[in-house]
Amino acid sequence: MSRKRVAVLISGRGSNMAALIEAARDKNYPAEIALVLSNRPDAVGLGLARAAGIATAVVDHTPFGKDRSGFDAAVQATLIKHRIDLVCLAGFMRLLTDGFVNQWQGRMINIHPALLPAFKGLDTHKRAIEAGAKLHGATVHFVVPEMDSGPIIAQGAVAVRADDTEQTLAARVLGVEHRIYPLALKLVAEGRVRVVDGRCLIDGVPVPDSASLDPGALT
Ligand code: GRF
Repeated sequence: MSRKRVAVLISGRGSNMAALIEAARDKNYPAEIALVLSNRPDAVGLGLARAAGIATAVVDHTPFGKDRSGFDAAVQATLIKHRIDLVCLAGFMRLLTDGFVNQWQGRMINIHPALLPAFKGLDTHKRAIEAGAKLHGATVHFVVPEMDSGPIIAQGAVAVRADDTEQTLAARVLGVEHRIYPLALKLVAEGRVRVVDGRCLIDGVPVPDSASLDPGALT
């Protein structure tokens, strides 16, 4: 089976991108990172991608102003030019138009730093602590027009500690992100994920062990 050509869309640091690049270095991994695209020319992740020998592109959103469709069309043209099969959003801080999202339905995934459907949106770690949540974590899901709402492919959890700050909790969740994103992309690239009634079946079953990480197994 040929490897799927993946574009990783970033806006900043790119640590999840780096985890995907690392996973894809294994020739048996079913996807190759064919492109890293950033909407910010100064994204730190761009340098990491270049150092790893990955093709990069910048589609700066600023000249587009409020023209979201124009920006998305430029992104789409870049993805087509690089013959991209699957898109991974990894800290990509732009809202995408419904038209763009629908073009990639079932072929675009995102990582969110919370156990969805809890804590959609921003500042998830702070909000989890303030809510007194005992478990927190990260989710990889298919992207649908409504933000942070698509079918869940994989999740990983951490226990929230009494002395956690936003920073310490974020760091532990980030470690989980770096484990579940390569796992989720692998499952999708292998064609093992099917969406039925808004829920992901993996290898035909609702919640296989391979798509969830037990908090007990994590620090
Ligand atoms: C991650 O926490 C991710 O879950 C969120 O944005 C952050 C991006 O971090 N969507 P990085 O750029 O992958 O290091």
